[in-house]
Amino acid sequence: MARTIGAAVTATTVLVCGVTWMARAGDPQEGLPNAAGLIAYQRVASVLESPRCMNCHPRGDRPSQGDDRHVHLMNVQRGPANKGLPGMACSTCHQMRNNDAARVPGAPHWRLAPKSMGWTGLSRGELCRTLLDRGKNGGRTPAALVKHMTQDELVLWAWSPGAGRAPPPITAAELKSALEAWVDASTPCPQ
Ligand code: HEC
Ligand code: HEC
Repeated sequence: MARTIGAAVTATTVLVCGVTWMARAGDPQEGLPNAAGLIAYQRVASVLESPRCMNCHPRGDRPSQGDDRHVHLMNVQRGPANKGLPGMACSTCHQMRNNDAARVPGAPHWRLAPKSMGWTGLSRGELCRTLLDRGKNGGRTPAALVKHMTQDELVLWAWSPGAGRAPPPITAAELKSALEAWVDASTPCPQ
């Protein structure tokens, strides 16, 4: 017990020092307010890294499935418009809503995120910079990113993913406040 608390205290100290250092490195004038932004970003990243988002945001050409993110069965491929190959279009199987009897998830316009929006294997810092890069993110400003992540049907699906799939680690409302805090702090990124 004591040892667990000791480890937790050490971990917290390391985290706080690390965050403070990164904040100073990124923005010498702001210091601590920027650290709050970085903490908010870590909460955002915990959602982006969840299987519900990552399964559709691969850097390769195949979606993955399930909480263990195994490669999509039946050789499903991205295809030229991120909607699958002819004869294996996503919409052949994925409908407007979940089909729990057949265990097929569904939401409107089900398709793979474009390759430039692929996130698998990135560190949290790389993920942050990729997310903000308007050359990769569909030309979105930070405000447009918040709008997308609080209103898009494919994003919202993650909180009602159908039988056998876990939702992201925080609620949609918690993601919204984390996004707003991150944007208020001028979207700082960890290294
Ligand atoms: C069924 C597939 C699918 C799922 C699930 C999905 N996305 Fe996406 N995502 C897409 C597609 C397709 C686009 C491109 C939409 C566009 O540009 O209009 C996209 C674009 C985005 C973008 C904007 C581009 C960028 O790289 O910044 C963000 C942010 C995003 N998704 C966040 C999420 C989050 C957060 C989750 C999980 C809670 C999620 N997505 C789940 C398919 C998906
Ligand atoms: C032949 C039918 C079929 C086609 C075509 C198909 N899928 Fe699937 N997909 C499924 C089934 C079935 C599952 C659920 C498997 C399970 O969870 O046991 C699934 C699951 C998924 C998941 C996992 C959701 C999660 O978070 O667990 C994603 C993402 C996905 N498909 C994306 C796509 C995309 C993108 C396309 C088109 C490029 C596509 N699928 C084409 C049948 C299909």
